[in-house]
Amino acid sequence: MTIQWFPGHMTKARRQIEDKLKLIDVVIELLDARLPLSSRNPMIDDILKDKPRLIILNKSDLADAEATKKWLAYFRAEGHVAHPVDASTGSGVKEIPDQVRLLLKEKIDRQIAKGMNPRAMRALIVGIPNVGKSTLINRMAGKNIAATGDRPGVTKGQQWIKTGGDLELLDTPGILWPKFEDQMVGYRLAITGAIREEILNVEDIAFYAIKFLMQDYGDRFKERYGIEKLPEDLDNPDEIVTVMEAIGRKRGCLVSGGRVDLEKASRTLLHELRAGKLGRFSLEAPGK
Ligand code: G4P
Repeated sequence: MTIQWFPGHMTKARRQIEDKLKLIDVVIELLDARLPLSSRNPMIDDILKDKPRLIILNKSDLADAEATKKWLAYFRAEGHVAHPVDASTGSGVKEIPDQVRLLLKEKIDRQIAKGMNPRAMRALIVGIPNVGKSTLINRMAGKNIAATGDRPGVTKGQQWIKTGGDLELLDTPGILWPKFEDQMVGYRLAITGAIREEILNVEDIAFYAIKFLMQDYGDRFKERYGIEKLPEDLDNPDEIVTVMEAIGRKRGCLVSGGRVDLEKASRTLLHELRAGKLGRFSLEAPGK
């Protein structure tokens, strides 16, 4: 199944971001460290053009540390400044202004050379839904920020959020949509919980999660679910379903007659994976 956003959705989001680009010096692009490519809008280069950009790998607390290192190297090799963050605890957040200053160094130096007093650096945070934009904004502001439109009596003009230093943020983040033409992008996002299970079938999401875990984190997977031997052929769907049944039996997801309730087994597995019970994981690695 291919998920389709309304075609108008992306056009509107794109226009909103393009309008905001005029107001800011730098874009902070948030990606999910566990799946940087699938959580990236494929039109981002086209939308941002040559606006300086800081790439943040958020939720790095949940990602495989080795994979995150490789992703940072990958983005840096592409000429970007890239930085890992855990917005939920604030780890890596206080370095963000320095990273932005690094990006704007030439501009700031030019202003100083002309005898000007550089004004605050202004940034727009962009990213797909659920990647952690609000969490990061609140963390940088040091308080809970409500969207401007939600507060009665507040003028709708542009509001700047102060972060305690020489960096200011636009109060509303730019929302971009991931690329859904590739159905595996949808499944990877769903495995992390970024797409609700009503949109994709929960058993299908668990199917891909099991396959991925067996491929990349086989030992942890075997240990958690007491599976002695992984299937030989991970491309054989029957073998994956057999493993799903074993998980269901292990977790007591049974219906009358002792059959395994595959939907319940799927929900249980996904819940445990997202809650970190199988450890930190990354669904994508550069060049894979
Ligand atoms: P958005 O504005 O981009 O849509 O994302 P938002 O900040 O609402 O974050 C989406 C979910 O991701 C939230 O969890 C948030 O707590 C979590 N999150 C954000 N950054 C990080 C991070 O770096 N690490 C981890 N582990 N989680 C992060 P939620 O369950 O939807 O809400 P809540 O129960 O935390 O309030």
